Amino acid sequence: MSLDKAQEIAPETLAQVRGSFPILAQKIGDHPLIYLDNAATTQKPLAVIDAVTRYYREDNANIHRGVHALSQRATSAYEDARASVARFIGAADSGEIIFTRGTTEAINLVAWSFVRPRLKKGDVILLTEMEHHANIVPWQQVAEASGARVVPAPVTGAGEVDLDAFRGLLQREPVALAAFVYVSNSLGTVNPVEAMLAAAREAGVPTLVDAAQAVSQRPLDAASLGCDFLAFSGHKLFGPTGVGVLYGKRAHLESMPPYQGGGDMIANVSFAGTTFKGPPERFEAGTPHIAGVVGLGAAVEWFKGLPREQLWAHEDALVRRATEGLSGIDGVRIIGTAREKVSVISFLLDAAHPHDIGTFLDAEGIAIRAGHHCCQPLMARYGVPGTARASFSIYNTMEEADRLVTAVRRVARFFS
Ligand SMILES: Cc1ncc(COP(=O)(O)O)c(C=O)c1O
Repeated sequence: MSLDKAQEIAPETLAQVRGSFPILAQKIGDHPLIYLDNAATTQKPLAVIDAVTRYYREDNANIHRGVHALSQRATSAYEDARASVARFIGAADSGEIIFTRGTTEAINLVAWSFVRPRLKKGDVILLTEMEHHANIVPWQQVAEASGARVVPAPVTGAGEVDLDAFRGLLQREPVALAAFVYVSNSLGTVNPVEAMLAAAREAGVPTLVDAAQAVSQRPLDAASLGCDFLAFSGHKLFGPTGVGVLYGKRAHLESMPPYQGGGDMIANVSFAGTTFKGPPERFEAGTPHIAGVVGLGAAVEWFKGLPREQLWAHEDALVRRATEGLSGIDGVRIIGTAREKVSVISFLLDAAHPHDIGTFLDAEGIAIRAGHHCCQPLMARYGVPGTARASFSIYNTMEEADRLVTAVRRVARFFS
């Protein structure tokens, strides 16, 4: 998706967006906070904070069960959020949206409920080398349980999926499911998901898209993508932690057994046996994170109301500016130079360990992440234990991008 046509954003609009995030107006020691750890989690706007607070102040009750007013209001708020999410990601209807604890639980649900019952000895689950552990470990677990294999498609030196190799694996191997990340959390690479999904469709292979990062970085339309499953977390979309979404095509969801058992997901229980509701309730056992779902609904509505194309163009400009600045510092090596990348700059400094960079920058009020970013196989691919990672969001400023570069220059001087 090209963002070239986006007009430049007005400074007042940017200031207004940034002003919606009370947490950003603080100091760390003597320095204004510069939050560049957005790939780990995004900050929350007032619209979300207020929706969660209002829910607890005015509507709090358990859902789907009570006939009283509060329970009915809580149920409506919960189901309205499901409808918001369905519209936001182009699902056919709310029944295709399952609330989970996050991307991790959404992927586990597909692994155990969709893939595991179908998986045969020798089958392959096709991933890429740039997956987050959340999109590796559940597949290893179901593969081990059924004698199947997990095979990653290779990633190039620039940090792009080798599309020919991916297509070749789909043709050569008995692939039961292809699961891949849309936007890499450790490199920022935007994968050619349309082409990857088309190749999987051609091979008759079902697909899961890990949209944990993409959900705040790109327009997301599950129907036009044509994926079978898609997962994301609320907390990377300016919403609360502990809540996420699994989108699944209705026909698949209807064919899947429950992932967990408990209250609210049953049609009838007796000691002779239990019958289950249809999707989505079948997959939401027990009392869910109602306030989290309400907050996620508020985040979606807030985000939809923004000039997103312009904000993404602004964020891309920040990444370009910081990348240029960092590249000019002696001893800096950037890992991940894909043609299409967003938000993330992963880098190394000859003279300093990533954790030292992180600690040094923290002393200047700059929050970045150092480590393997839950992508150990990718770090192994580059022969590094980890990187320093600055990740931008729509509320960051040019001044912050420049202050990052200046601070890293100081780190380089200090350690050389
Ligand atoms: C690409 C990607 N996939 C999966 C996850 C896991 O998300 P969560 O921890 O919210 O379940 C993350 C989180 O960093 C991620 O960036």
